[in-house]
Amino acid sequence: MRNLAIAPSILAADFANLGQETLAAINGGADMVHLDIMDGHFVPNISFGPDVVKALRPHITQPFDVHLMISPADPYLESFAKAGGDIITVHAEAGPHLHRSLQAIRALGKRAGVALNPGTSETAIAHVLDLADLVLVMTVNPGFGGQKFIAPMVEKIRRVSDMCAGRDIDIEVDGGITPLTIGVAAAAGANYFVAGSAVFNGKPETYGANIAALRQAAESARGLIA
Ligand code: DX5
Ligand code: ZN
Repeated sequence: MRNLAIAPSILAADFANLGQETLAAINGGADMVHLDIMDGHFVPNISFGPDVVKALRPHITQPFDVHLMISPADPYLESFAKAGGDIITVHAEAGPHLHRSLQAIRALGKRAGVALNPGTSETAIAHVLDLADLVLVMTVNPGFGGQKFIAPMVEKIRRVSDMCAGRDIDIEVDGGITPLTIGVAAAAGANYFVAGSAVFNGKPETYGANIAALRQAAESARGLIA
């Protein structure tokens, strides 16, 4: 069974205290940090760029999971690699040469991820599985935190999980993940769980309990399919 990881999305953190917020999530038991990069073009929102990733990097030892919601992505891969990304994920919809983008991420010595918008079929990535270390199934339309989990994505997670059987590929879900939705995603085969508003909810002292609630719900759902 693939390793379970909880990846708080700092998009939902208090940006005025980003370092402390990120550390509070890590000290609360997060396995990695999910960094949402938005360009106002591929998605209708703008977040932050490589300088923010770079500024956080010396403070955190856990992996940085960089989710690029930008188009084109290729011109920026090196910047995000140098800024400290460990996993760099591009969208299948972000450019015409997905295979080349994943090759470029691996050539930079990073784990290569490929993301699918809810409207994109998993068949779009069938030709790149040899180059992918992670498949991200979006469970909301990307661009904003705090949206509702799109339930029909559960079947897609299952199909992606079947496609990736026998391969060393992590299956990540992102969007609307809460203690109430994480279980169905886990039972369908996801093992990396991004959560923004469900983690950065309340005060930094409560982030650990929020993460524990997510982990427990995912673990018990996985127990049912073990
Ligand atoms: C959406 C981002 C997500 C988002 C998740 O475009 O990719 O990572 O921050 O936020 P929640 O968990 O609040 O849906
Ligand atoms: Zn994300």
